[in-house]
Amino acid sequence: MAHTDEHEGTRRDFLYYATAGAGAVAAGAAVWPLVNQMNPSADVLALAAIRVDVADVEPGTQITVLWQGKPVFIRRRTESEIEAARAVDMGDLIDGNDRNDNKPDLPATDENRALDENGEWLVMLGVCTHLGCVPLGDGAGEFGGWFCPCHGSHYDTAGRIRKGPAPENLLVPVARFDGETELVIGKENA
Ligand code: FES
Repeated sequence: MAHTDEHEGTRRDFLYYATAGAGAVAAGAAVWPLVNQMNPSADVLALAAIRVDVADVEPGTQITVLWQGKPVFIRRRTESEIEAARAVDMGDLIDGNDRNDNKPDLPATDENRALDENGEWLVMLGVCTHLGCVPLGDGAGEFGGWFCPCHGSHYDTAGRIRKGPAPENLLVPVARFDGETELVIGKENA
């Protein structure tokens, strides 16, 4: 694939996800992350933290928001996605000790990467760790998670790299719930 095509593919992927995310949040109260996506200004890009209402995110779907100039995937996983991620032998992982800003210095188990104890919510930077494309989601790739078409990196349902040139798992940023449906991504007052 020519370099230009790769770039265009990335751009299309990003626009697709931005649109999908916008549709998902439009029905809820979290309108301002959508505004960020459409017109990110310098001060917005620099925001240390954003808040996202995820009340309308159904199991088996994800939304994408923009945080510090990067797409962030917020996925509400199904039981089978969680089970698949938790059944993986740690010895099969390419990046078993990942960069997880939410729980640093812990192995890349699904329990450590998921935001909540039940593993329903997974929040990750939507940036391929190979050369920075935005991976495709919704069960894409050979491991049912995400697939980066730029050079063929496959991520599992916990966002861990399983096959292809990407060296690391999708990065888990600092995130937490504030109440039942409001997600805070990043460090407030940082
Ligand atoms: S950027 Fe190369 S595989 Fe994702």
